[in-house]
Amino acid sequence: MRRITLMQYLIEQERQRDWINADLRLLIEVVSRACKAISIAIGKGDLAGILGGAGSENVQGEAQKKLDVISNEILLEANEWGGHLAAMASEEMDHPHQIPHRFPRGEYLLLFDPLDGSSNIDVNISVGTIFSVLRCPEGVTEPSDAAFLQPGAAQVCAGYAVYGPSTLLVLTLGQGVACFTLDRETGSFILTKNALRIPEDTGEFAINASNMRFWEPPVKRYIDELMAGKGGPRGRDFNMRWVASMVADVHRILTRGGVFLYPRDTKDPKKAGKLRLMYEANPMAFIVEQAGGAATNGRERILGIQPTELHQRVAVILGSKNEVERVSAYHAA
Ligand code: AHG
Ligand code: MN
Ligand code: MN
Repeated sequence: MRRITLMQYLIEQERQRDWINADLRLLIEVVSRACKAISIAIGKGDLAGILGGAGSENVQGEAQKKLDVISNEILLEANEWGGHLAAMASEEMDHPHQIPHRFPRGEYLLLFDPLDGSSNIDVNISVGTIFSVLRCPEGVTEPSDAAFLQPGAAQVCAGYAVYGPSTLLVLTLGQGVACFTLDRETGSFILTKNALRIPEDTGEFAINASNMRFWEPPVKRYIDELMAGKGGPRGRDFNMRWVASMVADVHRILTRGGVFLYPRDTKDPKKAGKLRLMYEANPMAFIVEQAGGAATNGRERILGIQPTELHQRVAVILGSKNEVERVSAYHAA
């Protein structure tokens, strides 16, 4: 594969098809630079005194890590001057961040989970950043929560960075999925995989099994069958992985297949699940579907869900198509 930079890739995509414009190219370039800055900050860790709690809580009622707040700031600062955005929304902010009046505004809305898997940051396990791009509705100049409440199928672009042994950027613009590796010497993201495909079958599942007693019957049935292995109804053994960083689990599935489940559980009946629809489930569902996988909440396609709240939660079952369809069939039975 030709080793081209993210910028070259975007320029070539723009030439081949007119579905990417200069503002969207700038948005992606700027987000990639913010992810590079987050990767550098994370790499310093204790040396920079940036691990541990920030001593604050976010709108989700979760204690924030210092790096949650730092990553959020990096993304806000990187994106507010470019004139490509109408507003930004984040897991770490109650309401959308408006573009300061001293800067021009653009047609896009950017949503992000600035640091995904942050419970892992203090124990040096891979974390990431997830982002999603929507169009701002016509005529909306001060986008409130309502402007963001579009189904995932309306996304123009989605991606994630995973800060692991390598720092990777995975991106879809609705024409397949590409993966870029950060070259730390030149500071560029280099195209290292194109047209990623998730195998339709898999022998590997990802779930936080400590919640088993709270699962709904279809999920319990599905996981029991996997755990029964060769002697059970599936007639084969399965392997389990759970990183507790969605980006790391999803990247593994994009790379070698698998099924990821964070199902609705009865632990907190008020919550439809743990993961957030707008900046975790929707971008990941877009990427997974673009790679030939599937993503549902057990009953309907994630990308078809009409959001009602900016920070609403959703059950997530995604990955190898045939396994996701089996779980959905058990929900329908
Ligand atoms: P975040 O750190 O942005 O809150 O996301 C954490 C999410 C997701 O990354 C992961 O799959 C899940 O929480 C892990 O949940 P458990 O800790 O309950 O396993
Ligand atoms: Mn997250
Ligand atoms: Mn987060």
